[in-house]
Amino acid sequence: MSEACTALPASAAVAVIGAGAMGAGIAQVAALAGHPVWLHDLRPGAADTAIAGIRAQIDKLATKGRLTPERAAAACAALRAAGTLDDLRDAKLVVEAIVEDLEVKRALFTELEARLADDAILATNTSSISITAIGAALQRPERLVGLHFFNPAPLMPLVEVIAGRATDAAVADTVFATSAAWGKTPVRARSTPGFIVNRVARPFYAEGLRLLQEGVCDAATLDAVIRDAGGFRMGPCELMDLIGHDVNYAVTRSVFDAYYGDPRFAPSFVQLELVQAGHLGRKSGRGFYDYRDGAPKAEAATAGPQPRPWRIALNLGHPVGAALSKRMYASAAQPLQTLSSAADGRIATLDEHTAVFASDGRSATAIAAALGLPAVVTIDLMLDPATARRAAIGVSAHCSDVARDAVIGMLQSAGLAVSVLADSPGLAVLRTVAMLANEAFDAVHQQVCSLEAVDIAMRGGVNYPIGPVEWAQRIGLDRVLAALDHLHAHYGEPRYRASARLRHAVLASPRP
Ligand SMILES: NC(=O)c1ccc[n+]([C@@H]2O[C@H](COP(=O)([O-])OP(=O)(O)OC[C@H]3O[C@@H](n4cnc5c(N)ncnc54)[C@H](O)[C@@H]3O)[C@@H](O)[C@H]2O)c1
Repeated sequence: MSEACTALPASAAVAVIGAGAMGAGIAQVAALAGHPVWLHDLRPGAADTAIAGIRAQIDKLATKGRLTPERAAAACAALRAAGTLDDLRDAKLVVEAIVEDLEVKRALFTELEARLADDAILATNTSSISITAIGAALQRPERLVGLHFFNPAPLMPLVEVIAGRATDAAVADTVFATSAAWGKTPVRARSTPGFIVNRVARPFYAEGLRLLQEGVCDAATLDAVIRDAGGFRMGPCELMDLIGHDVNYAVTRSVFDAYYGDPRFAPSFVQLELVQAGHLGRKSGRGFYDYRDGAPKAEAATAGPQPRPWRIALNLGHPVGAALSKRMYASAAQPLQTLSSAADGRIATLDEHTAVFASDGRSATAIAAALGLPAVVTIDLMLDPATARRAAIGVSAHCSDVARDAVIGMLQSAGLAVSVLADSPGLAVLRTVAMLANEAFDAVHQQVCSLEAVDIAMRGGVNYPIGPVEWAQRIGLDRVLAALDHLHAHYGEPRYRASARLRHAVLASPRP
């Protein structure tokens, strides 16, 4: 492995073992990159069937004009089924995508080691098994590396390149450069439970399940808020329904167990119950939602129309106040009063005694009690208050219905649908984003990867609208830390303890 950071040439043969969902996708990617590709599966005929499927996919891409006919023909011709492992002798890179079982993978790599040339690279697509543990069975564990694709492999840009304890840095460099040459976006990670994506994404599911468990809102409302205010492509409930609750629960369990029961990764009874009921999501016809024919579509709870209040004083020094002012201006029948700033950082004051705050990790009731205010409404975090379609709000215990409706009317007049959630600390989006960022900082703190790699991974592997680190920086790391500290104080649970790395970043940031 003398040529660090050099991709394997396209003439190098690639072998993919396991012709299931992932193996077929990886073989397609390698063939389209110009490599001769062997595909092997234990099940007789499986590799041939998969190759026929890949060729059909490639033909479809060519018909749509996404590939030249020459490139499509070359890729189709490059795919060959291997009857036995002996056929793979000339492979320079083997990517394993077989059953997720340590002993089975170890046995396969031991067989491969005996057949392949000394400079062949062995890569595993495992999503949860330690690269170090797989490599321990090999004579030369330094040539084993994790190459973790995301499903569907031809479409998802991310590849995690994972180094185990023994992995030669030059081997990791070569697969990094090779996957980049294949058009993928590689990131480097150390072999640790969940690697980057399956670890950092846990709070996206966990906080959603927590909100449902506490009755803060129902699944359809949560999904709508996370999508329409948070800017995520899918809410946690619809996404878990798509992944399958059995699969998602098993990944959570495996990460939780691998971290010796760290409560941050604790599985949820809400999800366990769905698994126990056989409500596994789309594939079983029911999950959080009912997918059976004729089942009514669940709608998000959305407040009915309210008149815009007469007196609104918006704080233009607050980004949400400024965005609301712009959005309301077009439709403003009455002039708005604006404040250049507000001493307590509020977004707005309505009818002189209702204070509107951005959620800061406290409930509206906690803010009202701390500031001695009669009526407080909190607005959940929005990815972009200038373009968000929905706002989620929480209402303090002593806030009247009239005051609540005035805030709803104000937000509606800015073109926002409004969902009133139970008065929960951090509501849905801020809580989720703060916990995602916390996990990102913790992964970096524990030397799993760089800050940049987390953001690339979460965008490319799970389609987040922006990386959690960049998002936290936009919000202000100090605000994210404060939200976590408030959640920690509220619940008294170690789950919400802030990452030491995040706290250090806040303390180390330049002072005005
Ligand atoms: N499905 C995903 O979303 C996903 C995403 C990333 C990584 N992964 C990982 O990729 C691997 C494969 O997952 P999948 O979803 O494609 O599984 P799959 O069940 O669709 O396919 C696995 C294939 O491997 C074959 N196989 C099993 N043992 C074998 C052996 N010893 N030798 C040769 N072939 C063998 C099976 O016959 C089957 O065709 C697993 O390690 C999984 O954790 C899966």
